[in-house]
Amino acid sequence: MSASAAPRIVYVNGRFCPIEEATVPIMDRGFLFGDGIYEVTAVLDGKFIDNEPHLARLDRSLAAIGIKNPHSLAEWIAIQRELVTRNALKEGSIYIEVTRGVYEREFTCPPDIAPTVVMFTQPRPVRHNPSAVTGVPIITVPDLRWARRDIKSVALLAQVLAKQAAKAAGVAEAWMIEDGYVTEGASSTAFIITADKEIVTRPLSNAVLPGITRQTVMKLAAKHGLKLVERLFTIEEAMKAQEVFFTSATTIAMPVIRIDDTVVSGGKPGPLAQELRALYIEAVDQQLA
Ligand code: PDD
Repeated sequence: MSASAAPRIVYVNGRFCPIEEATVPIMDRGFLFGDGIYEVTAVLDGKFIDNEPHLARLDRSLAAIGIKNPHSLAEWIAIQRELVTRNALKEGSIYIEVTRGVYEREFTCPPDIAPTVVMFTQPRPVRHNPSAVTGVPIITVPDLRWARRDIKSVALLAQVLAKQAAKAAGVAEAWMIEDGYVTEGASSTAFIITADKEIVTRPLSNAVLPGITRQTVMKLAAKHGLKLVERLFTIEEAMKAQEVFFTSATTIAMPVIRIDDTVVSGGKPGPLAQELRALYIEAVDQQLA
């Protein structure tokens, strides 16, 4: 960071401070056990996209692991707003992490220890992401994760390994495969579009994270009369699909042009995937207006 750059301000346990001053004790259970959850909301024109569903999922993840939500919805939003303002963030994302808190390293701890709450912003292109213009290649990896993937757990070792493998292959995303079926991307929801123009994604279950962008894309598709099917699909079907894309808060709908060594979607972003991306951005602009 150059001397003249504005300091990056983060939030930790009730305090806004420069990132250099923000610390969490080594006995934090997030650090020791991955005992915590997180949430990511995209920011566009300084405003949040689909923030309330993200905060509802945060509440659900906390409840699923027995941590009392330390803030009301209004309090969460107020902290997020303050952080975005202090960092003058126009476009990017805001990350929230809540861990069970700090205690001697023992597998269990009393139920009433104070959770650790951390929040920071990350600038990145959301609206004009160059990858959405070209489409992106992806790889496949075995899904090595635990059985409660519906919880947005900070224990992301399997996803880190998947992303490292993707990076080594020169690509940005990996789709995880279980019993021959695609579960989801390492940090995204997987979609294919069949020759009959059916938009296919895996049904919600403990096997996948209930993606907020998935939900919005499905609502938009239904509103515009597109056919939607929630079912399992194999990686072979994805490789033969008319179009392939994935969704997440930060990538919106991202067209896929190659899976491992197989070119998909004619090697260019598919028209329906592009349309869904455009509809999403249009809907966001209306939300922001
Ligand atoms: N990841 N599946 C997984 C495993 C994810 O980690 C994510 C998001 C999604 C998409 O969810 P949503 O549409 O609500 O962002 C699906 C975030 C962005 C991350 O880990 O950075």
